[in-house]
Amino acid sequence: MKTANRVSIAKKEDIFSRNIYQCLFPEHLELIPQLNEVYELELAFYESQILSDEEIINNGAYFARVGDQLTRHFLMCRGEPVKLPQHSSSRLKAFFETNQFKTGYATHGLFPYRGKFHPQMIKGLMNVMGLKPGDTVLDPMMGSGTVLIEARLMGIKSIGIDASPFCRFMVQAKLDGLTIPLAPVRCALNNCQSVFEYFKRLAGEPEQGIKMRTENYLQKSFLTMESNDRYIANLPNGCENEKVHNFLLLAYLDSAGYSERSNRKSHYEQFKAILERYLFVAEKIQRILSGTENELAEATPLEGDARSLPLENSSIDGVIFSPPYSFAIDYLENDSFHLNYLGVPVDQLRQKMIGLRGKTLREKFELYKLDMDKVLSECARVLKRERFCTIVVGTNNNQLGKILGVKPENVQGIDDILIELGKKHGLHLVRKMNRQITGMANTMRSEFIIILQRK
Ligand SMILES: C[S@@+](CC[C@H](N)C(=O)[O-])C[C@H]1O[C@@H](n2cnc3c(N)ncnc32)[C@H](O)[C@@H]1O
Repeated sequence: MKTANRVSIAKKEDIFSRNIYQCLFPEHLELIPQLNEVYELELAFYESQILSDEEIINNGAYFARVGDQLTRHFLMCRGEPVKLPQHSSSRLKAFFETNQFKTGYATHGLFPYRGKFHPQMIKGLMNVMGLKPGDTVLDPMMGSGTVLIEARLMGIKSIGIDASPFCRFMVQAKLDGLTIPLAPVRCALNNCQSVFEYFKRLAGEPEQGIKMRTENYLQKSFLTMESNDRYIANLPNGCENEKVHNFLLLAYLDSAGYSERSNRKSHYEQFKAILERYLFVAEKIQRILSGTENELAEATPLEGDARSLPLENSSIDGVIFSPPYSFAIDYLENDSFHLNYLGVPVDQLRQKMIGLRGKTLREKFELYKLDMDKVLSECARVLKRERFCTIVVGTNNNQLGKILGVKPENVQGIDDILIELGKKHGLHLVRKMNRQITGMANTMRSEFIIILQRK
């Protein structure tokens, strides 16, 4: 029988003089505040092993200081946390404050898209996947564009694809927020009422309680950008610039979404508060980026289908994505106002949306598996050999158990289904981590980070 090594009482006391951080990291590396999950410690450890000091200063996700030099990530996050509308609950405010170093930086916080990635985690993952400035990363289901924004800041080229045209619009506006001139946005805020009236005419007014705009509703179309030319002249100087215009428009669409969900403030008050926050966020990140704008990498958001990627074989250095979490979120319902403004026939789009296809839950689940098989086959095709494809996914085995009529403990989770599908296409599991979901109102409490390597 093996006996445990005996440690003298004196030695046992000694162990309290050392903490786990001193064992894991060299003395000159100081961890970022608020690092409190095991997977974060693990990613920080990998970063410390594979990045040079200079790389940690420029692109590290989990360190505040290297020697006496503050890291860029720390500088990007420092300062006031994102300003929230005054009526926000103390729970929401506390959430943003405690997540300052994880989510509350750059333009990530703009627009409340459901199921967003945790940006700091994406930065850490890109580092451990060996992605370097000049490489190209792909997110075939980009949603709100977390991967593209993070990659752009790190000097890594990126391509993002989403079936929803609204995602392409939103991601482009969030990317532009890193560099657009802000004087016209400031002017727009000073002339908020007339700017609000302009967008109301352009994009229409929200209607409380409306859940889904069908194609019939679409007949009631609003002014298009082209027929709007004569009104643009009423905007403050500089706001006719397409990028500035669309940044303001995103703030308007954001406020319309809020107004459909809540009537605590008038739509106008809501727009003003949101525009103020957008300006604050863009000013904060642009101050940090000042002088280094030309180091930002090219980022290309596209509308498309992850099951059939418009990319060459072996052309991508890394893939990161999070598929729709089984059937938890109906993105089309959430984005009904915005899609309608963009003139998108929601019923047709539904046929392309993974997780939403099919009538019964059982049929949806079967189609989900078939669709994800195609997505993984495409990811393997476009990825270079030896490179990594990382999937972040949650699973709800209780829900799946009900659909399949089996006990939750006998269900094969979405995580394992994706690992199996990956293997079929030459993507082999190298690491699986677990991450608690700390966001508001999530049905799932944890998710998996699955790192696959193309053999
Ligand atoms: C969980 S979200 C991704 C969120 C994203 N990681 C972020 O940080 O915002 C999944 C996305 O998959 C998109 N999607 C669904 N079906 C798709 C398809 N066939 N092709 C591409 N994207 C699709 C949805 O529109 C949704 O934006």
